Amino acid sequence: MAVDGLERTHYCGDVRAADIDSEVVLFGWVQNWRDHGGVIFIDLKDREGLVQIVFDPSVNEENHKLASKLRSQYCIGIKGTVRHRPEGTVNPNLKTGEVEVVVKELKIFSESDSLPFPVEEYVHVNEELRLKYRYLDLRKPRMQRNLITRYKGAFATRKYLDSEGFIDIETPILTKSTPEGARDFLVPSRLSQGKFYALPQSPQLFKQLLMVSGFDRYYQITKCFRDEDLRADRQPEFTQIDLEMSFVSEEDVMRITEGIIQSVFKETIGIDVNPPFKRIKYQEAMDRFGSDKPDMRFDLELKNLTEIAKKVDFKVFNSVANSGGIVYGLNAKGCINFSRKEIDDLTDLVAIYGAKGLAWIKVKENELQSPIVKFFKKEQMDEILKTLDAKPGDLLFFMADKPKVVYDSLGALRLEIARKLNLINDDEFNFVWVTDFPLFEWNEDENRFEAMHHPFTSPVEEDLEFLETDPARVRAKAYDITLNGTEIGGGSIRIHRSDVQERMFRALGISDEEARIKFGFLIDALKFGAPPHGGLALGLDRLMTIILKEESIRDVIAFPKTQKGVCMLTDAPSEVDVKQLNELSLKVIKKKSK
Ligand code: AMO
Ligand code: AMP
Repeated sequence: MAVDGLERTHYCGDVRAADIDSEVVLFGWVQNWRDHGGVIFIDLKDREGLVQIVFDPSVNEENHKLASKLRSQYCIGIKGTVRHRPEGTVNPNLKTGEVEVVVKELKIFSESDSLPFPVEEYVHVNEELRLKYRYLDLRKPRMQRNLITRYKGAFATRKYLDSEGFIDIETPILTKSTPEGARDFLVPSRLSQGKFYALPQSPQLFKQLLMVSGFDRYYQITKCFRDEDLRADRQPEFTQIDLEMSFVSEEDVMRITEGIIQSVFKETIGIDVNPPFKRIKYQEAMDRFGSDKPDMRFDLELKNLTEIAKKVDFKVFNSVANSGGIVYGLNAKGCINFSRKEIDDLTDLVAIYGAKGLAWIKVKENELQSPIVKFFKKEQMDEILKTLDAKPGDLLFFMADKPKVVYDSLGALRLEIARKLNLINDDEFNFVWVTDFPLFEWNEDENRFEAMHHPFTSPVEEDLEFLETDPARVRAKAYDITLNGTEIGGGSIRIHRSDVQERMFRALGISDEEARIKFGFLIDALKFGAPPHGGLALGLDRLMTIILKEESIRDVIAFPKTQKGVCMLTDAPSEVDVKQLNELSLKVIKKKSK
């Protein structure tokens, strides 16, 4: 670690009172610069923190002259002696606050232009600007903490999985499309003109093949690529902690996953999360919370009113309830004072999920205030009030629609009300396993069943006979792990019999011919003594976002992309030379803008 004759002895943030009177060599960046009656004080910073260094003209005049040229973010090295700070200048908020370093030798390695934004403390800076100068943004203590903590999380995972006998095996990045529900990123091949690789949406098929090979326990912390519309908790490339195990049940995979999470929390933020985690069945989660990733840090549960609604005179309710739809209510306890504007805003919120309206009732001491009460007989209304446990002061919301619209809308309404009422404890880490998912989900646009997880998920044995006759009732051996209402991971026991895998493809409307072209290698592999196997993948970025209490997944990724999938730093994606395109026999046809 020697540069220009200087050999580092400490990180800046690591100098302590125990080092008083010893000589230290430090490297770092100039943070604050103060001149007190000819003596120059500088905060010198590196990744471990900062320490105050002092240039006293009476110690070394030459150095002092040089120091007067220093400006913010100059990169320097110093040799000096540690001393106790003078009485009254000790800073108890700083790890190095008891000491300062009197400089004997200064080397300026690099000057710095003035910065596009301050990097000292958290100051709000436009995110695009932060991402354009990401290397400066990453000098901020908060960002350094985030990436170092992320590393600790990944390292804790490796240690734990290693101790459980897992082997890290790399799988290809240039590969063939694996359907995980998103669009693929394609890479044109030069050697096979007109053909494309796909970047993996996950290592799913390769990890299953590794089980066929007999590796028994595999893991990888690896990049996955999905070309989907981006949101706060999504990136086009993201990192999974991916694992697969042979000869296991759901319980085994869940236990290992809990072990990973337990180690990660302990070794990143020192918190004990105490598995086993709560479990809830998919249908119950939808029914009570309107979501398959229920935030169970607070109550506010939905109530099913469909049976009552079938009998009421209010046409909106009974027509929906009698034609396959559902009617649910949500009691916003004590919210009678919500204004018209607040209710309108909530109505706008649910409209995003396709809701056609949001009926409401304010429960007063001796009357009900609502645009819809007039449509109900007294005993019908009494039954509704009883089901919702309505008390004076409450505000009741109702929705009638297709199940998906009702669940999505009231699920979102529930979260919004909890936020408005401050019901969410930000310090809690609430883990919930969601189990018993349906194997299929009806895709209305395409008029066919889709795999709810992916097409390699095993049906529950007892339901296998309904695969062709009644797909909607087939349950999957799948499980998701959620944390504070975010899905942080998901997995399943896989199909390990080729005949079942073929039936699954047929149930998804994939012809035998198409299945052969796309997945022939998997179907073949399952014919050579495939062990029963299963696994799961955790989203490392999402997990770290929650652990670090960040708003955005981008704050735990070194070089993330914007919501539009752009890298502000390098300007990717970008145009390429015609020569490059020619080599690939590609031609760009620009779509006419509408
Ligand atoms: P799944 O598709 O559920 O499962 O992905 C696993 C986890 O990865 C995270 N994740 C994402 N994180 C950031 N940005 C994204 N675009 C993104 N998409 C997913 C989530 C999610 O829970 N092969 C299966 C796993 C298995 O069955 O073993 C899979 O990929 O936290
Ligand atoms: P309308 O009779 O259409 O004016 O609706 C009366 C009330 O019912 C209004 O408050 C609407 O927001 C609400 N409403 C309309 N459609 C629905 C629905 N599908 N579910 C719940 N409330 C609805």
